[in-house]
Amino acid sequence: MNGEGMPEKDRKIKVWDLPTRIFHWSLVTCVAIGLVTGFLSPEWWMGVHTWAGYTTVVLVVFRLVWGIFGSEYSRIETFAFTPAEIFAHIREVAFLKPRHFTGHNPAGAMMIFALIFLLFGITVSGLMVLGGEENQGPLAGAANYAIGDIAASVHTLLTIILMVLVVLHVIGVFIETKLGGENLVLSMITGFKRLPPGEKTPTPRDAHPLAATVMLVAFSTIAGSVLWAFSTMPPSGLINLPENKTYASECGDCHEVYHPSLLPAASWTQLMGGLSKHFGEDASLGQKTAINITAYLATNAAEAWDTEAANRFRNIDPAAPFQITATRYWVRKHDEVDGDVFKRKGVGGKSHCASCHKDAATGRFDDQYINIPNK
Ligand code: HEC
Ligand code: HEC
Repeated sequence: MNGEGMPEKDRKIKVWDLPTRIFHWSLVTCVAIGLVTGFLSPEWWMGVHTWAGYTTVVLVVFRLVWGIFGSEYSRIETFAFTPAEIFAHIREVAFLKPRHFTGHNPAGAMMIFALIFLLFGITVSGLMVLGGEENQGPLAGAANYAIGDIAASVHTLLTIILMVLVVLHVIGVFIETKLGGENLVLSMITGFKRLPPGEKTPTPRDAHPLAATVMLVAFSTIAGSVLWAFSTMPPSGLINLPENKTYASECGDCHEVYHPSLLPAASWTQLMGGLSKHFGEDASLGQKTAINITAYLATNAAEAWDTEAANRFRNIDPAAPFQITATRYWVRKHDEVDGDVFKRKGVGGKSHCASCHKDAATGRFDDQYINIPNK
């Protein structure tokens, strides 16, 4: 369907092939889900957020491959404009007289490169945050907490730039639709664009789906193997915690057995030195037992771990040096939990971490394992 023999004004040409259109709208969906789950939702939605990220990577890789083997206007070479062409186009738009481009115009093309570059940076930094701070995903073993922390800032910064570009992109589409008299959103749905009178009917090249598939499979195999190799590394910052039955039985009488990584060594030692006046209770122990537990807690304290919780709980509240729930981090992380929730029977108070954090015993406190009892 190249519009040959049609009346001048109705000549249409297929510009966006089906894969490119599906790519475009899938990416819109993924980015929207990523932004909403990243900015607005509670942390236990992070599973959806990471899947939006993984899907984005797949889409971006697909688009790059399709940029080589797709049909004419999907090919990167057809919209690799020179800076001079880009400036000329922007000038024409500014004078409200942009030239017609059948495929991507130079501004749109520049936007594509910028968006792909940003999405690449956002997904890679996202994987580093996931691996470094949460000890999850393929980089759990490769990225430590400090790297994850830096990656988190990069992730946020790039996302803000992305949002600015998305807004500019939408404004750009709107302006060019007005000036060019052609609904660009509609053309990204139907795939067709009008051929302006007088313009020669082009003979676009076809796609090579087979070559694209081969390339995608080859690339996925290589990338998948690399990520798999990374993911076989044990999560960094988690040590093998030896079992200590004395600690579990002596300190698990009145409340749960706290993971040693939740306080620094100095705090544990101080707490163990004052057991006769322990939060209004007498929790005194025999000397030998006390020494055993103190050594265990101090050896496996927050300093020995590189999880997010251990990194954060190293900063204690000087006024309550061994109260986990008094740390700034704890208070900040739980300020959205209504006070009444902690009074529920199934919860039993702030100090009963395990009633809401199903993985409290591992010291990880992953967002996916938060499950607040409703009674
Ligand atoms: C006789 C009962 C009892 C025993 C035994 C006991 N505790 Fe406690 N512990 C308490 C009470 C009560 C609190 C305050 C809990 C609260 O605020 O809900 C507390 C709080 C704590 C906290 C602070 C939790 C927070 O809210 O941040 C830590 C840490 C702690 N205990 C560690 C220990 C250790 C270690 C042992 C063993 C040596 C131990 N406890 C044995 C009664 C006990
Ligand atoms: C009433 C249920 C409840 C109790 C009890 C509770 N938490 Fe939480 N905790 C939550 C919720 C909900 C969040 C998620 C808040 C958010 O990020 O929006 C959270 C978040 C956290 C986080 C941050 C997780 C992350 O990756 O961002 C840590 C760490 C944590 N809690 C530790 C503790 C510890 C330690 C205790 C016990 C001293 C505890 N919590 C007790 C409900 C609870």
